[in-house]
Amino acid sequence: MNNLETQLPHSEPCERNKHAIFNVLAPLLAHTEFLLEIGSGTGQHAVWMAKQLPHVKWQPSETEHYLNMLQPRLDAEAPDNVLPPLTIDVANYPWLPSTQENESPDVLLTCNTLHIMSKHHVEALWKHAGLLLQAGALAIVYGPFKYNGDFTTPSNAGFDVWLKQRDAVSGVRDFEWVNQLASDNGFECLTDHDMPANNQFIVWQKLAAN
Ligand SMILES: C[S@@+](CC[C@H](N)C(=O)[O-])C[C@H]1O[C@@H](n2cnc3c(N)ncnc32)[C@H](O)[C@@H]1O
Repeated sequence: MNNLETQLPHSEPCERNKHAIFNVLAPLLAHTEFLLEIGSGTGQHAVWMAKQLPHVKWQPSETEHYLNMLQPRLDAEAPDNVLPPLTIDVANYPWLPSTQENESPDVLLTCNTLHIMSKHHVEALWKHAGLLLQAGALAIVYGPFKYNGDFTTPSNAGFDVWLKQRDAVSGVRDFEWVNQLASDNGFECLTDHDMPANNQFIVWQKLAAN
C-alpha cells in the first residue's frame, strides 16, 4: 500500500473509485454540514472529496490499529474542512468524543468496509448509527453486495472466496440482511446505484421515531 513517490499510504482501488463515488455522492451533500466517515483507510476519499466540498465538515475515522494509515495523508494534504481523525471501532459507542456529543452527522459514509468487518461489527454499525443519527440523516454504504443470495458477478464470487481466505469473518454481505438491520434501527432505503467494478452505492435515510 505504499506509493513510493509520496511515501503516503496509498490504495489503488480507492484512487480508481473516487470519481464514480463522488459523482453520486456530491449531489446528496448540497446541504450537508457534517459528514462522518467510518473506516477512512488511507484518507484518499476524505482529502480529495472534502477539497471539492468546502461547505462540508468532513470527520474521518479509523480503528486504533489502522489510524497510522490515515494520519499521514491528513497531516500532509487535508484541507481545513477535514477534522482531525477520530478513533472509531463501530463496536464501541459513543463514536464521537464528549466535545462533539451534541453534534449529529447529517451523513454517515462508509466505503468498502462491510465486507471487511465481521457480521457482528456490521450489526453494531447499524445499531450505533441508529443511536447517533437523527431523523432525515443519510447513511451511505459503498461496496459489493449479494442479492437474494446471489453474487452480482462471478468476479464478486471470487472476491468473496479471497476475502474469506484472508480473514474468515469477512465476506460480501447480503443486501437483504443489511437492509433488515438498517430497517430494525430506524432507516429506510432510498436508492441503490449500480457502480463500476461490480459495486453498489446504497443510501438509507433515518426515519422519524414513531
Ligand atoms: C478495504 S478498507 C477501506 C478503506 C477506505 N474506506 C477505502 O474505501 O479505501 C476497510 C476499512 O474498514 C475498516 N474497518 C474494519 N473493521 C472496522 C471496525 N470494526 N470499525 C471501523 N472500521 C473498521 C478498516 O480499518 C479499513 O480501513
